[in-house]
Amino acid sequence: MTEQKKSEWNSNLAFMMAMIGSAVGLGNIWRFPNVLYSNGGGSFMIPYIVSLFLLGISFVLVEYAVGYKFKKSLARILYSVNKKLEPIAWFILLVVFLITTYYVCVVGWDLIYICLSFTKAWGANPDLYFTNNVLHATDSISGIFTIVPTVLLSVFVIWFLAWLIIKRDLNDGIGNVSKTLLPLLCIIVVIIVAFSLTLPGASVGYTQIFTPDWSALGNLNVWLAAFGQIVFSLSLGMAIAMTYASYLPEGAKLVDNAVMVAFSNSGFEVFNSIGIFSILGFMTVTSGIPFNELVTSGTGLAFVVFPQVFNTMGPAAHIIGPLFFICILFAGITSVIALLEGVCYSISEKFLIERKKTATVVCIVGFCISTIFATGAGSTILGIFDAFLNNFALLFAVLLECLIFGWIYKFDDLIETLNAHSNIKVGKTWKIVIKYILPICILGLWIQGILTTMSEANGVSKTIMLILSIVLIVVPIIFAKMPALNKNYYDV
Ligand code: PFF
Repeated sequence: MTEQKKSEWNSNLAFMMAMIGSAVGLGNIWRFPNVLYSNGGGSFMIPYIVSLFLLGISFVLVEYAVGYKFKKSLARILYSVNKKLEPIAWFILLVVFLITTYYVCVVGWDLIYICLSFTKAWGANPDLYFTNNVLHATDSISGIFTIVPTVLLSVFVIWFLAWLIIKRDLNDGIGNVSKTLLPLLCIIVVIIVAFSLTLPGASVGYTQIFTPDWSALGNLNVWLAAFGQIVFSLSLGMAIAMTYASYLPEGAKLVDNAVMVAFSNSGFEVFNSIGIFSILGFMTVTSGIPFNELVTSGTGLAFVVFPQVFNTMGPAAHIIGPLFFICILFAGITSVIALLEGVCYSISEKFLIERKKTATVVCIVGFCISTIFATGAGSTILGIFDAFLNNFALLFAVLLECLIFGWIYKFDDLIETLNAHSNIKVGKTWKIVIKYILPICILGLWIQGILTTMSEANGVSKTIMLILSIVLIVVPIIFAKMPALNKNYYDV
């Protein structure tokens, strides 16, 4: 069988929008404000900016250079670097795929909240409503046998939407959706931030961001937190930038592009957090709840604290509420399709399955796995998946990529590729960062992640983590061992 025609972006704009869309996600909206607040407020911007330049942009550049140079899928790239590395590619892709299965579920919860927000159907106690009426969460793991129909339906809708987008041709699907959703997302965020600044008490909130705690800078954990946020927020190591860059036509400007993407992503999260903090400031002033009790992250912020805020906001909440949840939906969808694209690309390239069929199979399998999270024990299992995959497996993937491209692959080739296609040039410093600084920082984060995950783990979570570990070892080996149906696959 012969290889299919390779996809290519029809404009630099489509590529940029898809890249920014992949990076801007739930992490920007609900993770960043909390990380910022708990790590010194204003002074956190120093480790954050250092991490952005030194580590974030540096690593995105590796992914760009590799994707652009090889113009192949991750599995095939690692095979080309060294045959023995192919299982690592499938390991990374499996981590990304498993992350997507629960990320979709959270976007599904958000879909439910879009509907609830028009009438503030969560009532006077959003906390209880979320646990009992939305998640139908059970205390024990036996809840895994009880399906929660509304959550299952919303998860299905998100998988279906993702399938509709990725099964299409690259530019019709991911390109057009990103070009449409990203500007809409920005407009909504501007409206929310502008409105939030008019609320009484807004300044109580946003001054927290700008009030620095300089002593935090001496704390290693603050630096690790900044680095962790950059890894999460820029979706590092998830084969996204590599995949998207491999679709670039000749003549693209790589470094300039990477810098713009990284700035847009960080600009988005900083700007958005001004709105989040202003709204929380309003809540503190109107309800008397101390500010530090309101600043949570993740689902607690979106599905509990924000509904509480909307309850005190009056009629404006009927507009701001839905806008807030729509904003999460748009940010989530563009990230989901990016996460899936790299996975589909490797499968379709190795097994010569056409784009549409690969998307269908991947989405069906993904939906089946996601049903676990649509059960009574779903949110508990989701938390375990998240802790294990993000704190442990994903960082391990980033570390492996750094070592492979920094040490095994001819790194100077990457420097050459980038410099031949950019106005901004890279050199020795970049090499030092990738070979030494980045692996050391990731190792620090990784050890910290393992320690926290293990100290919080109970019997059930240890069992689930063990199962995940076995799956993450066995499945990649099987995929790597399976013979490629694409005969060109083995051309190095
Ligand atoms: N960068 C995106 C976000 O901040 O939500 C996408 C993403 C990152 C998804 C990390 C999943 C993940 F584990």
